Parts: sequence; structure tokens; C-alpha cells
Amino acid sequence: MNSYYFFNDSNILDLDLDLEILVYFKALDRKSKKNKSTIKFMSIPLFRIYHDEEDSEIVKNVIESGKNWAIGEYNDTFEKMLANYFERNYAISFNSGTSALFSLLLAYGIKNGDEVIVPSFTFISTANSVLMAGGKPVFADIELECLGLEPEDVVEKITPKTKTIIPVHYAGCPCKIKELKEIAEDYNLLLLEDAAESFGARINDKKVGSFGDSAMLSFCQNKIITTGEGGAIVTDSEEIYEKLKLIRSHGRLEKTNYFTSNDGFSYIQLGYNFRLSNILAALGVSQLKKVDLIIKKRQEKAKYYNNLLDDISFIEPLKPPRSYFHVYQLYSIFVKEGKRQIVIDTLKEHKIASKIYFDPVHLSPFYKKLFGTKSPVLQNTERVSEEILSLPFHPEIKEEEMLLIKGVLDKI
Ligand SMILES: Cc1ncc(COP(=O)(O)O)c(C=O)c1O
Repeated sequence: MNSYYFFNDSNILDLDLDLEILVYFKALDRKSKKNKSTIKFMSIPLFRIYHDEEDSEIVKNVIESGKNWAIGEYNDTFEKMLANYFERNYAISFNSGTSALFSLLLAYGIKNGDEVIVPSFTFISTANSVLMAGGKPVFADIELECLGLEPEDVVEKITPKTKTIIPVHYAGCPCKIKELKEIAEDYNLLLLEDAAESFGARINDKKVGSFGDSAMLSFCQNKIITTGEGGAIVTDSEEIYEKLKLIRSHGRLEKTNYFTSNDGFSYIQLGYNFRLSNILAALGVSQLKKVDLIIKKRQEKAKYYNNLLDDISFIEPLKPPRSYFHVYQLYSIFVKEGKRQIVIDTLKEHKIASKIYFDPVHLSPFYKKLFGTKSPVLQNTERVSEEILSLPFHPEIKEEEMLLIKGVLDKI
């Protein structure tokens, strides 16, 4: 059943909506009445998950087989497809992007306060993974075009203790990864991409996730393709791949399926259980098959939003360079003139979701406590975090929904 919510009539009347949008909402209202829904008029969620019949079928088939729910053939298939997609020698799946990044840092031997340069304008897990591995996250500022690490500030933050740079490709937009790669090479540092949000993004023909030494992917539910929760590492290094396999599964040497094989298994180091289940890998296979369609839909919807919001003076979209292929994991805008809170509140009044991605990590209570008064000043990060806002967005968002949002924003 459709889970749309509905406004009350007075909200709709307030908005002076075009006749065709009104007709659309009236139709939805009739549908909800037919479904005996007690709620009137629609609310617009931040996102919906793109899925089809094949996703349901593939998962159902693994379940109904009554075997191999943990480890199975889809783990291999999904990993092969991922390696192929990113033109990397290896891909290894994990049960989240966070466990994948943490494991990657362990595999590269980050420890004892080794410094790792990360953006503060990211999901907290980027920095947490460094801490969990025993390293020290060092926050660098972002540039204002793509909202990724600012190369000049990264250079500023390099010390003799720096081992790694972890750039983030924000919201599906590639960061200045070519410049960061040059810096990593010049200073002999590792470059590990946090490509959680940017599956399929590229610069010219080169996909993000294939620039650094290795890259992390996330398949959490709001990502470009999803397994509900899930993640992966893509790399060209056989050594790192082998280390990751041990870290992922109890430090156990696995040549065959642990659950179905009678081989003796050796436990040769400390390890975790960070495996992606075969059920979820099956979903990953089915999602990955349609990634081009998902990205195309996202780009079309983003273009529609960009045109629609163009005449609102206090709203500015991100404007990446032409050669940057932005996949729009989020549709984030800058809300200028100090109007962000009123935008959030007004949308909320009309039951329209919006969300701040991201508040600066270095200003979170945890990191402030951790670094005490030494909290760095990151000018762009702090400014952007005051203006950024993600609007409802997903591959199937309807023009009528975007028009309604525009109608609400026009009233501010
Ligand atoms: C930039 C970034 N890094 C890391 C992560 C962590 O991924 P996961 O939620 O799969 O653990 C996310 C996802 O939420 C993210 O957006």
C-alpha cells in the first residue's frame, strides 16, 4: 500500500498551486480515501528506495532455497561485478561502509596515533573509522565548488606523522581527487577514497573509487544502490585484499564455504564478523544491474530541480566542473541570506522533509570533547554547514512533488 501522507486543505489553498498540481493531489486524496487512509494530503519524505520485482525475486529465491543465507554464490558474484564496475583487481564486501573503512585502515596498518587527514564535512563514520583503528583524524577544510577536501588545506595539515588522506565525494559529486592524488604521491601518503555516496560518479571517464590506493563503498539504504546495510572495498592490491578477508571473518583462512565444508579452518589472527550476508549480496547483484538507470533518473530529477529553483534568489545548487559526472546521491542546495531555518520550518509545516547533511564532525560534542580547545577552525566547512540543506530526492520523485516544494519555497 502507498504510504503517502496528506496535507490539510488549508495548506494547499495557501499555496496558490497550479491547477494541474491540485488535480494531482486531489487524485492522491481520492486514492487514499479508497484505501481507507485516514490521513489527508501528501507529505514528501526525504527519499524512497528504488527497487523492482527482480530485487524481491532474487532475495526470495535465496530465502526459499533454505540454504546459504550467510555465505553463498552471490557474495562472489557481487564482488566480481563490483571489481569489474570499478575496473579494480579486487572487491570485497562488508556488512557496512563503516566496517569496510575501519578494516581497510587496519589492513594498511594505521595505528598508534598515525595521522589521517579527513574532511569534517562528512558523515561521522569517516573520522570514527580512523579512531577505531587507533589513528588520529586530522580535519582539513573543504573547497566550495564540490565540497570535498581542499587540496591546499590538506598540504597545510601534513606533518611527519601523516600516513593517509581520506577524501569524501560529497552527495555523489566527485571531489578534487586528481589534485589530492598528486599530493598523496608527492608526500608519499596513502589515498583511500570514501566513495560511500558516489557510486558511479566520475571525472571524464574515470570513476571515483578508482583514483586512490583503495576505496570504500556503502550500500546503506539512502545510497545510489543499496542492500539495506552493506559496504565494500575496491582495490588493486592482492595483499590488502587477503588481509581484508581475514579481518572480515574472524581471522580465519577460508578457501571454501565455512558452513558447508568439512575442511579444517585455521584462525591465524584477530578478526571480526563483518561479512555481508548472501541474501544481501543477492540484492546487491540485482541493484547493481540497474545502476545506470538509477543514475540517469537521479540526474534527470536533479536537472528538473535545478531549473525549477533557478529563480529563487536565496537558493543556489552545487556547480561542479563540466567534466564532473555528479550522480546526486543527495540533492543538496545552499540556502543563502540566513534563511535555512525558515526553509526547514516552512517545509516541515507542509509535511515536507529536509535534512542537514552535514553538521561539521569537529564541532560534534564527541570530537569537541576529544580534541578539547584544540578544535581547528575550518572556515569553509563551518560556513557550508550553516547553509547546506538536502531536499526530498530519489530516482522516482515526481515532478508534481518538486513543484509543490517550489510552491512552498516561493512563499518564503
Ligand atoms: C561519507 C560517508 N562515509 C561513510 C559512511 C558510512 O557508511 P555506512 O552507513 O554504510 O556504514 C557514509 C554513509 O552513511 C557516508 O555518507
